[in-house]
Amino acid sequence: MTGAAAIARGSGGGLFITLEGIDGAGKSTHLTAMRSWLGARHHRVVQTREPGGSELAESLRGLVLHHDMDPLTEALLVFAARRDHLRRTIEPALADGATVLSDRYTDASFAYQGGGRGLALPVLLTLQDWVQGGRDPDLTLWLDLPPAVAAARRAAARDPDRFEAQDTAFFERVQAAYRRRADEAPRRVVRIDAMLAPDAVWQQIEHALKRRVPA
Ligand code: TYD
Repeated sequence: MTGAAAIARGSGGGLFITLEGIDGAGKSTHLTAMRSWLGARHHRVVQTREPGGSELAESLRGLVLHHDMDPLTEALLVFAARRDHLRRTIEPALADGATVLSDRYTDASFAYQGGGRGLALPVLLTLQDWVQGGRDPDLTLWLDLPPAVAAARRAAARDPDRFEAQDTAFFERVQAAYRRRADEAPRRVVRIDAMLAPDAVWQQIEHALKRRVPA
């Protein structure tokens, strides 16, 4: 690990890591491996997800994934879920010195509600400011996979929810919005080429963790 590149832990002591990418990019497989990798290095890991990660937020997840609604309602619900998740799960865990590993966070709202649904950026920036303030992740790994490849992987794997049922054009917009977020925060967001075989994807993730996570 190069000391200069390692992340300084936040004031609460814990480290906040998020994993992002379009549906089908392979987050679930790699989250399990990341958790084991961190655990083996004596991190006390709190693994969580969005929408969800607290009792109320998990209830909101059910609404967001399975009920039709307009883009603003959808954004308000995912940010409401995030607020509860932050206050009840993420902040206490970080304050306690744990490493929080979250399957999605605010980048997903900019990608899906902003890129995918076309919600205006100022609305999302305002919600981000209200809900999370400066609580950005210390490190975000973005699994970058072409939407057509992700669609083929999804079709082979599971029945779609409201988002997964969207067409390739929707996921092209989601992907473009993720790319913009990555470009805007090059220190925080590390792009992972998810086109490669799982082992090669994991090697990139491990490389990023070794460089950026304090021993
Ligand atoms: P996902 O991580 O894909 O769950 P699973 O692996 O169980 O399918 O997340 C569920 C969906 O929620 C995903 O399609 C993206 C969507 N989502 C948003 O639209 N906005 C958000 O802010 C978040 C966190 C997720």
